[in-house]
Amino acid sequence: MSAPAPGAEAHRSPLTVEDRGTHVLATLDRPEKRNAIDQDLIDALHALCAELERDPRTLVLHGAGGDFAAGADIAQLRERRAADARAGINTRAFMRISALPMPVIAALDGYALGGGAELAYAADVRVGTPALRIGNPETGLGILAAAGASWRLRELVGEPLAAEILLTGRILDGAEAFAAGLVTHLLDTGAEALATAEKIAARVAKLDPEATRATKRVLRAPREAHPAIDLAEQATLFESPEKMRRMTEFLERKKK
Ligand code: COA
Repeated sequence: MSAPAPGAEAHRSPLTVEDRGTHVLATLDRPEKRNAIDQDLIDALHALCAELERDPRTLVLHGAGGDFAAGADIAQLRERRAADARAGINTRAFMRISALPMPVIAALDGYALGGGAELAYAADVRVGTPALRIGNPETGLGILAAAGASWRLRELVGEPLAAEILLTGRILDGAEAFAAGLVTHLLDTGAEALATAEKIAARVAKLDPEATRATKRVLRAPREAHPAIDLAEQATLFESPEKMRRMTEFLERKKK
C-alpha cells in the first residue's frame, strides 16, 4: 500500500472488523467522537451485515475508547431533512443487524445514547459495566428515537420503564440497566465486559449453528406466527444429520 499524499488524511474505517475464530468482533472506532454513528459507520455496518448474511457468524459489537456510542452523529443529523428521516438511515441498518442469522452480542461501556442505545437494543444479548450510561435523549434534540427504541426497548424492559426513558430522557447507569434486564451481565470494566461477550460467543460456537439460527428466527417471529413457525423449524431440524449425530453422541457417551 502506498503512503497517503502529503496533506491528505488516510481514510480510517470507523468500524474495525476482526475474525476471532468462533465469532466476528466489530469495534465502533471513532473514539474522538465517542463513536457517534455517522454515515460512514452506517455504510460499514451494512458491508459487515452483507458479509454475515453470506457467511453467518456470531457477531460481538463494542466501542473503542471506553464508550459504546454516544448517539447518531449530531452534526450529520442536523442537516438531515424529512426525506432522510423517511429513508430510515439508522433504522434500516439496525434492523439488518437485528435480523442477522446468528446471535449478535453487544459489550456496553460508557455512553450508549440515542442511536448508540438503539444499536445496542438491536443485539440479542447485552453485557455492561457500572460505567454504562444508556438511554434516549432524542427529545432534548427535537427529534424522536425512531431507530428501534419505541418497539425494542418496550419489549426489552416493559412499557413503564421504556416510557420513562423515552418520554423523560432518563439515562440508566449500568446497575440500573442490569436490574431492568437490559444487560444480562454486569462486569467491572469494559475489558471484562468484552471478554464476557467473547466467552458467550465461544459458547454459541459449540452449539449447532442450524439450530441456533432456527431459534433466532422463532424468537424474532411475531406472536401470531407461533406455534406454526416453531413446528416448521423443528420439523426441518428433526431431519438433520447433525441432530442425529449430536443425540447419538449423547446416548452412546457411556459406552466409550
Ligand atoms: N454526535 C456528534 N458528535 C458527538 C456526539 C454525537 N452524538 N457525542 C459526542 N460527540 C463529540 C463531541 O462533539 C466532541 O467532539 P469535539 O471534541 O470535536 O468537540 C467529542 O465527541 C467528545 O464529546 P464531549 O461532548 O466533549 O464529551 P463529554 O464527556 O463532555 O460529554 C456526552 C459526553 C456523551 C455526554 C456528550 O458528548 C453528549 O451529550 N453527546 C450527545 C449525546 C446525545 O444526545 N446523543 C443522542 C443523539 S441521537
